[in-house]
Amino acid sequence: MMSMIESEIINVHNLKKYFDDVKAVNDISFNVYKGEVFGLLGPNGAGKTTTLKLLLGLLEPLGGEIKIFGMNPERDEVKIKSRVGYVSEEPLIFKSLTPKDLFNFIASIRKLDEEETTKKVKEYLESLEAIDYYQQIIATLSHGNKQKMQIIASIIHEPDLLILDEPLSGLDAKSVRVVKEILDIHTEKGGSVIFSTHIMELAEELCDRIAIINKGKIVGIGTFEELKQQTNKMGARLEEVFLRLTEQDNSVVEIVKKLRKSYKSKIKEME
Ligand SMILES: Nc1ncnc2c1ncn2[C@@H]1O[C@H](COP(=O)(O)OP(=O)(O)OP(=O)(O)O)[C@@H](O)[C@H]1O
Ligand SMILES: [Mg+2]
Repeated sequence: MMSMIESEIINVHNLKKYFDDVKAVNDISFNVYKGEVFGLLGPNGAGKTTTLKLLLGLLEPLGGEIKIFGMNPERDEVKIKSRVGYVSEEPLIFKSLTPKDLFNFIASIRKLDEEETTKKVKEYLESLEAIDYYQQIIATLSHGNKQKMQIIASIIHEPDLLILDEPLSGLDAKSVRVVKEILDIHTEKGGSVIFSTHIMELAEELCDRIAIINKGKIVGIGTFEELKQQTNKMGARLEEVFLRLTEQDNSVVEIVKKLRKSYKSKIKEME
């Protein structure tokens, strides 16, 4: 049987990161367990990307503690990175390369078998209908196709943990379906996922647990059912729960009213 400690893939305890007076991450704590899909949901500027970058050791925390596989991202960066796959918010940085060069480069730095990796990459490219772009310069690819390359680049070394910042942004419906399947297979094999998203349906469908983050604080955490209980919105969809927890539900009503009002007055002017 697995011990409790072993099953904890990510431990975050009282984590803080400020940018001058912006409290981007303001004292958050959560765990992610083996085989779990954990979603970070929050409005623009809530602190999702900052949290994910802290997990990767790309930013230095102001306070608190992070453990990934029981290790410290700053001290054990290399060991952790060999077991983690990352999809960043910004498109791929290697814009002047082709996907082929990029994957070969990754295979060499990660010391993967080149032939085997190429075979795997081609399978993924085919399933995502992107094989035609294998030898095209990345800079010339469409947003969605760049995103596909980033996703493939994050999984070819079969990491135990995927850290994905809005992984499905820009993907068409069919590709979304395929990526969901890839994530399912990853967790069936015991892998874990933490990802940020704005797509409520996706969070609802994919996540075992969700943390709702607002202005650097976690304002709700748990399964979708538990979040509904927290907000007394038992019959609700995740969107309603989200707007309640981030205290945006009333302001949405106001904004909609204003839009309607200005629309009506414009129609009147035209008449
Ligand atoms: N390098 C930086 N320098 C200064 N401020 C930053 C920096 N990175 C992030 N911030 C600020 O920290 C806060 C959190 O930003 P973050 O990118 O983590 O939000 P997010 O939840 O990922 O938002 P989005 O949904 O728009 O991607 C914002 O107020 C942002 O302006
Ligand atoms: Mg972000």
